[in-house]
Amino acid sequence: MLERRKAYNPPVDWSPTEEGLLLNYLEENSFDSKRLRELFPSRTLPSIRSKVRKLRIKYDLFGTSYRDEKENFTTEIAQIVRPKIVFEAYAGAGHQTFKWIEYSDTVYASEIMKYKLSQFESLAQQNKFKKKKHSGNWYVFEKGEKKIYLCIGDALDAAAELKVNKIKVDLVDLDTCGSTLPLLPTLLLLTKPSHVVITHGEFHSMRFKREDVLRRLFVHKDIAQNPLPMDVDEMSHELDKAIKVAALRAHNETVDSFWLELVKETWLGGRFHGMLRRYYKVKKPRATSDCINEISKK
Ligand SMILES: C[S@@+](CC[C@H](N)C(=O)[O-])C[C@H]1O[C@@H](n2cnc3c(N)ncnc32)[C@H](O)[C@@H]1O
Repeated sequence: MLERRKAYNPPVDWSPTEEGLLLNYLEENSFDSKRLRELFPSRTLPSIRSKVRKLRIKYDLFGTSYRDEKENFTTEIAQIVRPKIVFEAYAGAGHQTFKWIEYSDTVYASEIMKYKLSQFESLAQQNKFKKKKHSGNWYVFEKGEKKIYLCIGDALDAAAELKVNKIKVDLVDLDTCGSTLPLLPTLLLLTKPSHVVITHGEFHSMRFKREDVLRRLFVHKDIAQNPLPMDVDEMSHELDKAIKVAALRAHNETVDSFWLELVKETWLGGRFHGMLRRYYKVKKPRATSDCINEISKK
């Protein structure tokens, strides 16, 4: 039986001084639980971890140590695929958006945090994109013939708008800090892309031994069983299976569903601390039996 996860200590707000101290630390250093506990002796590690995550998102520090690796992979895939239209569901400050647009005509991006807009605008300016008049729920940025549409809102709402407006998406980029597995079938149905690039934040759940998270995410496994312990290779393999199952179940008829074929992958921040970013080609499933046989292989 799983135990309920609960906070044992009553929540204590972070003071502006503490926040400033943590922000200064994060601007210079990577996450080091020992040093952080020394800096904040009265706080628990989960509380520090949660604040670190929030500050990294807020101040665009997420992945600064592997930003080049991520951008290089995005550029490599953009050069191979040459997508005309990209949907980037989790745009953040736009570091990948301005890589995709170098090789495409249009990028539709969504980002849920309102305060990310100013970071996105300053990247647009650096990349010589001009902000134009709003179009519906989308901010519009233009450079010559190239256009970026940014929706400040939920990825699901943005994808639904693309579907309603019959936008033909070539490539979807799912670069979340968590997991997109639960939403993947829906996003695939709404946008019907030919290519998917996905970042697997689930490795952090494996490292933090979040059995509850993994049991929920791995729909191809028995939810009653603990998938842990798992090493990095097993986790990579299970994620590939989970992706394939999610895509295969995107529709009630296999024939209208999707089969995702792994083409390339790269580690962001290394195998032992980082995440995997993968590029999949979206195909039509062959016979259901073949797909199930392949996913069922050890
Ligand atoms: C890893 S960051 C994206 C980094 C970005 N791709 C880059 O390279 O600059 C993930 C982003 O997804 C955003 N996000 C989380 N849930 C979302 C949702 N449901 N819809 C849209 N954006 C979301 C977060 O606010 C965060 O900025």
